[in-house]
Amino acid sequence: MCGIIAYVGHKDVQPLLLEGLKRLEYRGYDSAGICIGGEPGFFVRKAAGRISVLESLLDEERAAPHGRIGMAHTRWATHGAPTEINAHPHTDDKQLVAVVHNGIIENYVAIKQFLTDKGHKFVSQTDTEVLAMLIGHFYQGNLTRAVQAALHEVRGTYGLAAMGAEEPETLVVARRGSPLIIGVGKEEYVVASDAAAIVEHTTQVVYLNDNEMAVLAPGTFKTMTIDDIPVTKEVQEVEFSLQQIELGGYPHFMIKEIFEQPEAIANCLRGRLDKNEGRVVLGGLSQYSRDIVRARRIIIMGCGTAWHAGLVGEFLFEDLAKIPTEVEYASEFRYRNPIIEDGTIAIAISQSGETADTLAALREAKDRGALSLGIVNIVGSTIARETDAGIYLHVGPEIGVASTKAFCGQIVVEALLALTIARRKYMSQSVLEEFLRALDRIPNQMRLVLRQSDLIRQVASQYSHRDNWLFLGRGFNYPVALEGALKLKEISYIHAEGLPAAEMKHGPIALINPGMPAVFIATRGTQYEKLLGNIQEVKARGAKIIAVANEGDDHISHVADHVLTVPDTIEPLQPLLTVLPLQLLAYHAAVERGCNVDKPRNLAKSVTVE
Ligand code: G6P
Repeated sequence: MCGIIAYVGHKDVQPLLLEGLKRLEYRGYDSAGICIGGEPGFFVRKAAGRISVLESLLDEERAAPHGRIGMAHTRWATHGAPTEINAHPHTDDKQLVAVVHNGIIENYVAIKQFLTDKGHKFVSQTDTEVLAMLIGHFYQGNLTRAVQAALHEVRGTYGLAAMGAEEPETLVVARRGSPLIIGVGKEEYVVASDAAAIVEHTTQVVYLNDNEMAVLAPGTFKTMTIDDIPVTKEVQEVEFSLQQIELGGYPHFMIKEIFEQPEAIANCLRGRLDKNEGRVVLGGLSQYSRDIVRARRIIIMGCGTAWHAGLVGEFLFEDLAKIPTEVEYASEFRYRNPIIEDGTIAIAISQSGETADTLAALREAKDRGALSLGIVNIVGSTIARETDAGIYLHVGPEIGVASTKAFCGQIVVEALLALTIARRKYMSQSVLEEFLRALDRIPNQMRLVLRQSDLIRQVASQYSHRDNWLFLGRGFNYPVALEGALKLKEISYIHAEGLPAAEMKHGPIALINPGMPAVFIATRGTQYEKLLGNIQEVKARGAKIIAVANEGDDHISHVADHVLTVPDTIEPLQPLLTVLPLQLLAYHAAVERGCNVDKPRNLAKSVTVE
């Protein structure tokens, strides 16, 4: 997804911006550009493709200036192809202003027409150029006023930075619906769409809210609304260190994050399992605990992996807390005219806390009167700030585009919430304590599963040439089957279907041909016997069976071609262990196929457009 980094201060801006762009790479992008100021006029260079292309372009041009103010951008195409012309920064036709922009200007066609009628000439297909042109159109010697005037005319979303050719020390930034963070250093400011590009410079940050903007110059910093009403912003400490964000010896972020899960889950549980008192502590919800316990219905909203975690949540909230629960694709919910009755809780699940569809669904549910809760990883993200209350994952930054540790963190948080409600309603203290002990054991049990990485690599390499895979599970492991298939699709580009195992015979069974890998999540539980029947149906048609089963399950080794084992736990917590071999299968298959694991084609880590 698009990324912004901008700087004003006393340092040489070009290397700083290029470094910042690299920190944003993980979000996914297809072109990049840079604007350096400091003297009247701008130096703008852009390139399609990787940041290294832009870097070599600048290396070739020994004339590239060494200014102390500038901005740069990674673009993920929405309007117009990923070309040099369409890359940001964009300027107006008089070269008065330059703009980098994340988000979408919805009424850009009408504005473009208006500006064309006034004689302005466009060179790109982007909505951002329209915004730059509009700011230029309003410019009368004051960049801040021109940005405000333009933003009054636009509909849509933006996180933007703007520079003016005649104001070589001023950087204007603004936000509506697309994140923007200002790092506050000593007489310097680093603005970025993501904390990852800021933490090497400073951990002191200001989060802009929607419809807020800032005017930055070396040593001066003013914040106001788009309507020019001054606002006082609190400087906060950002949570992640740069070291956490880096690779730490692993070849890819994804494998690092898979192996981090025991620690990440321990962090997620930290301070929330009170073993002495035998209770769950969720401080972020205390203000609403009565409403939550009395909830009559829960709606969970999310996208991708977060939606799968929501499906596990549906089982948890119904099974443990006895509250009717629905899981909605956020993109569908927001347009569905949903019915929200009294006593409805809407839970938005999002690793990034910035996913546009999840945010819009959350706002829809709130507008209709639901109490809103967030299950979010990124502290201070938009969803985290817009929910009434919430529970952070605390699993650390997730950089690999394919989500892994966030999925387990999301399930743990749902389990903690379900247990909190359950204990206040029907669950006995002894059953609760059994759950708490089981949760407490999960990090060590995860370590045991991860030890099979080499075995899983061998299995993956045996089947990585197969273009179609099936993932099948029942009950709590049905969402895990969906997640296993999604992981494989995302990073190895192998077609995979995830299904509830019994559904397979209603159609997908026709796909099976000899040698096709079929992954069954076959841990012992209420539907174990039935799942064994499903395995036989698939095996009889020539598929190769890869089973994820409990340690000591002798029966399964007679039926399956490969067995990957997980330790025993309480059935509702099984997904936390059974998903791990599937993450590793996907990872090893993708590496075997030579895929770019951390930056899979066409995907973005944080999808901040509809
Ligand atoms: C993108 C990512 C997925 C992720 C989804 C939701 O599509 O590629 O891995 O699950 O967004 O992201 P969120 O940040 O809301 O959890």
